[in-house]
Amino acid sequence: MIKSFKPRFTFYIILIFGLAIFISCQQKTGDGNPYVSASSPIEAGRYLAIVGGCNDCHTNGYLQANGNIPEGDMLTGSPMGWRGPWGTTYASNLRITVDMFSEDEFVELLHDRTDSPPMPWMNVNKISDTDARSLYKYIKSLGLKGEAMPEMVPPDKEPETPYILIEPQNLGAGN
Ligand code: HEC
Repeated sequence: MIKSFKPRFTFYIILIFGLAIFISCQQKTGDGNPYVSASSPIEAGRYLAIVGGCNDCHTNGYLQANGNIPEGDMLTGSPMGWRGPWGTTYASNLRITVDMFSEDEFVELLHDRTDSPPMPWMNVNKISDTDARSLYKYIKSLGLKGEAMPEMVPPDKEPETPYILIEPQNLGAGN
């Protein structure tokens, strides 16, 4: 009896240690939420910035150039305003943002901020910690470049820059 018990006991000990190691590895690689897997966090961040559409607004002229902008100029912000009932906002220079914020602060910012349209905060707030860290590492790897974008202009003031007016048209149609 004792002889057959011992190997089983050893098996359970190994199983428990194995599980403990597996769980601790899980905690190191993610917070249990989905995240992009790539050859490095910087590569994951590069992918996230493109597929997540961050360049569309945060890289000047990106949409007009069909995305053909040198990577060195990406995410330096855009002085093209977005005007709507909230006033006129400018997509920030994220190369300055990551220079000013620590990685932890950047993760917190992506999770908690809900400021102004058209920044899709409601989507970005749901990013996993791991992906937020990858984005930070990628943007930081591009280096500090460019200037701060203009301050937000209140709704009753005319902006001094070019802007895109976001105003629904023809709302009665189709009803
Ligand atoms: C449709 C345009 C648009 C898209 C797409 C967009 N942003 Fe923004 N973003 C803005 C605007 C406009 C602001 C400034 C208003 C504000 O801070 O709420 C902003 C602000 C930010 C800020 C705050 C920066 C600071 O220094 O205060 C961060 C961080 C940010 N965006 C990250 C992202 C990331 C990451 C993505 C892609 C996943 C993204 N944005 C996609 C328009 C956009």
